[in-house]
Amino acid sequence: MLNELDLDQFRKVFSKYTIEAFQKLPKLENPRILDIGCGSGVPTMELAKLSDGEIIGIDIDQDLLDSFSRKIEQEGLTNRVKAIKCSLLDIKFPDNSFDIIWAEGSITTLGVEKSLRGWNRLLKPKGFLVIHDEIKHFFEKRYKVTRCGYKLIEHFSLPEEAWWEEYYRPLEIRIKHLYKKYSNDPDALGVLNIHQTEVDIVKASPKSFQSVFCIMQKNKK
Ligand SMILES: C[S@@+](CC[C@H](N)C(=O)[O-])C[C@H]1O[C@@H](n2cnc3c(N)ncnc32)[C@H](O)[C@@H]1O
Repeated sequence: MLNELDLDQFRKVFSKYTIEAFQKLPKLENPRILDIGCGSGVPTMELAKLSDGEIIGIDIDQDLLDSFSRKIEQEGLTNRVKAIKCSLLDIKFPDNSFDIIWAEGSITTLGVEKSLRGWNRLLKPKGFLVIHDEIKHFFEKRYKVTRCGYKLIEHFSLPEEAWWEEYYRPLEIRIKHLYKKYSNDPDALGVLNIHQTEVDIVKASPKSFQSVFCIMQKNKK
């Protein structure tokens, strides 16, 4: 049933914003990129297409990493794209490892300040940090960027109701269809209920789920 729910299909609609954010970075030769909380790798695969560098995606969810690994193999990118099980609470890469850190939807796990401070050491001097996150955290981030060792290069917001119009509304249509198809399958209905609850939360207040990309650069150290 999860294959039929196919959340990736809806998530991919947002790849255009990942591309827009990447294009705001200067051209880097063979950049080393870390995607923190990569999930099933939808943005990560986009980064792999946009750059010629090495890309490492980390996440704690093995099912999502397995799905990401299948995409890496299907696209023939095993030589330069890696899916690694690792908690963002305990990232063990050495200092100055990456030219770019990418984090879509994962900064709140650790909190804005701890993430900005903790991830700073992983970046090479003048490396870039790109965050995609709910707009309600933006002002907190903006205020903390400098004291956490970065400068804010640029930011852009997604259209106010993009998450509702482009993701949750089409997802709800798919869920309704699957409710009918799996009406006698309690396990499937349990999974669908979880997703419908998320849909209902966004549906009740679509504008409060507006999100924003922030492009930051590490201060030279
Ligand atoms: C909102 S999803 C975003 C996934 C992906 N970046 C995207 O934009 O499609 C957040 C991701 O963070 C991951 N995550 C949550 N806690 C984590 C942790 N402690 N360490 C690593 N990843 C974590 C989840 O498994 C999930 O894949």
